[in-house]
Amino acid sequence: MDLFNHPHIFKDKQKDSFEVINPANGEILAYIKNTHKQDLQNLIQKAKIAQKQWADMLAEERCDRLYTFYSLILQSKDFLAEIMTKEQGKPLAQAKAEITYAASFVKWFAAEARKVDGDILSPKIKGQKLLILKQPIGVCAAITPWNFPSSMITRKIAPALASGCAIIVKPTSKTPLSAYALAILAKEAGILEDCFIVVNGDSTEISDILCQSNDIRKLSFTGSTEVGKLLYQKCASSIKKLSLELGGNAPFIVFNDANLEDAINGIMDSKFRNSGQTCVCANRIYIQSGIYDKICQGLIDKIPTLKVGDGLEDGVNQGPLIDKKALLKVKEHINDALQKGAKLLVGGSNHHLGGNFFQPTLLKDVTQQMKVAKEETFGPLAPIFKFESEEEVIFNANDTEFGLAAYFFTQDYKRQWRVAESLEYGMVGINTGLISNEIAPFGGIKQSGLGREGSKYGIEEYLEIKYLCLNL
Ligand code: SIN
Repeated sequence: MDLFNHPHIFKDKQKDSFEVINPANGEILAYIKNTHKQDLQNLIQKAKIAQKQWADMLAEERCDRLYTFYSLILQSKDFLAEIMTKEQGKPLAQAKAEITYAASFVKWFAAEARKVDGDILSPKIKGQKLLILKQPIGVCAAITPWNFPSSMITRKIAPALASGCAIIVKPTSKTPLSAYALAILAKEAGILEDCFIVVNGDSTEISDILCQSNDIRKLSFTGSTEVGKLLYQKCASSIKKLSLELGGNAPFIVFNDANLEDAINGIMDSKFRNSGQTCVCANRIYIQSGIYDKICQGLIDKIPTLKVGDGLEDGVNQGPLIDKKALLKVKEHINDALQKGAKLLVGGSNHHLGGNFFQPTLLKDVTQQMKVAKEETFGPLAPIFKFESEEEVIFNANDTEFGLAAYFFTQDYKRQWRVAESLEYGMVGINTGLISNEIAPFGGIKQSGLGREGSKYGIEEYLEIKYLCLNL
């Protein structure tokens, strides 16, 4: 695949285009054509026509084409991963793992396409038949983030396409190449071109049109709670169905009775995946007093073994942060915590590689009064809080407006159940720091969002229920 054959992607600067920059070295990778208001309105009309054709196909036909799309993604894994590492910064091995993860949603929803069944209800009046149909919602829109440039797209487009919808995707301007590459493969797989459209350009202009259009019947967004709230408001005028996967502030709790080695590995997995730039990564690490020093020591030993660098280099497992703003946020949280009494155990500064590279950092004696307890850091900072009792830690873990993911480690089976039920989160990892997969419903409660992605529930977000009352 040569991305530069795509009519929206250029090697050299063009009028009315924007740059895609490698966060590891500042290199300009490509220029992307902006989509403007009239172009977008035209694309919405094209998607409307294509959606009808797509929905008219047998589910089996859509399923087959999605399976082909899945195979093409896997066949292009190395290429897609390299683009991702260049535009997003994550280490190549993690980029490859993300492509597999992205493909898994396509495979999963290919199968789900054939399970969209209705119902027959037992009637209230003799002679009547009460039927339930499930129909595709129509043309949908997705606004997707830079931290998982491929999987956050497939997690939305796969259920949309499986159910017979068309979808217009606006990826972040930091990682548009991964989105275009997926669209090229989808077309090759026989997915109607106007059923999966990628648009780029001014985020406010594009999101205003997508949110306000009566022809777009659903919006799915992954990103910050702040932006999610704005989109929610903008969608009010057209009463659109919404899926919002927003910010998190995940507590990660380790009780005295945990397996310490597993807990330390769990913290490393959860905290440093994607250099801490995930919505579900551990943001507050609560350690019970009896094992506090041992866990701190385990992390002091492990964190320096992380290799920071350009994701294309061998052995690197911590890439750069996405931009300067991200780096400043990490520093702000560290400085605030240090000023309020936290102690620095590892890292704490810009990495000697400069640019957007930051040292993986460990702080101890962090408290609820510090910024890191309230806000998502979205970077490689592991802040350790000490706690005494189960009651206290559950109170503190839930003391946030967010409710995406939470984790805890304990070997006490009664506590496993009790704590899992008490945590006010959409997803809970017990004795593991990694919970994401295509089979399970991904999503949060409170201000972490609405709806679920992936799983058997994910397709419902793209379907409408129609009730037929038939008098014979
Ligand atoms: C996210 O950070 O938004 C998604 C992470 C995941 O799917 O594991």
